[in-house]
Amino acid sequence: MKKVYQDMNELCVKTAEWFVEEANKAIAKHGKFTVALSGGSTPRQLFTELANLKWQQQIDWSKVFVFWGDERFVAPTDAQSNQKMARETLLDHVSIPKENIIAVPFLATAELSAMQYEAELKQIFSDLPKFDLILLGLGADGHTASLFPGSKALTEETRWVCPSKAKAGGPERITLTYPVINHGALVCFLVTGAEKAAMVKEILNAPPGSEVYPAERIQPTSGNLLWLLDQAAASKL
Ligand code: 6PG
Repeated sequence: MKKVYQDMNELCVKTAEWFVEEANKAIAKHGKFTVALSGGSTPRQLFTELANLKWQQQIDWSKVFVFWGDERFVAPTDAQSNQKMARETLLDHVSIPKENIIAVPFLATAELSAMQYEAELKQIFSDLPKFDLILLGLGADGHTASLFPGSKALTEETRWVCPSKAKAGGPERITLTYPVINHGALVCFLVTGAEKAAMVKEILNAPPGSEVYPAERIQPTSGNLLWLLDQAAASKL
């Protein structure tokens, strides 16, 4: 399913409202809300919106468990850290217990960090995690999370978390793999801006089973897939 909003601002306000509903549904259903966050410019504005008292007061944050779909292999104090961004925009402003924030660890190597994150997930979830919500972005090259075109992570079928590299360079990444993302109860792409329009068209018009771009392979096996776009990102549809 897809929804198109006028601009980033409208998308973030509506998505904040919807996030509150999803959190409350999950908490009513099984006592907690597990969400995997992403980095990127749209989530930054969404998290800032969610931190508004109007929204944050509608969620019992003691029942929210926050994870990350991907992270850069940098210290949590680094400006490129997805964890830092989420803390500064949202998590530092809401009453979430610190043990409910399960961030990707920053160890000696990206491989070790990925292994440790997977070990932590295995302690929390007895089986393959079924996140209530997984937020994703879309790169203009068709990547999502840190599943980049041509990266080894695309072929991972067993591990839940693995290291990954972007062709464009930058720090190494740590990413959830397809088996985990596609097991999510609700997987949601947040995409804004005209520079994404061509790729949005490619992905949303791809024939079933197409594997040209990494984002095409996000197809929840038993969950729901939702695309939230602004008009600019949807302009070529
Ligand atoms: C990240 C994400 C990445 C992101 C896309 C889109 O942490 O950067 O892993 O997949 O969601 O690159 O990012 P923008 O929304 O900033 O364009």
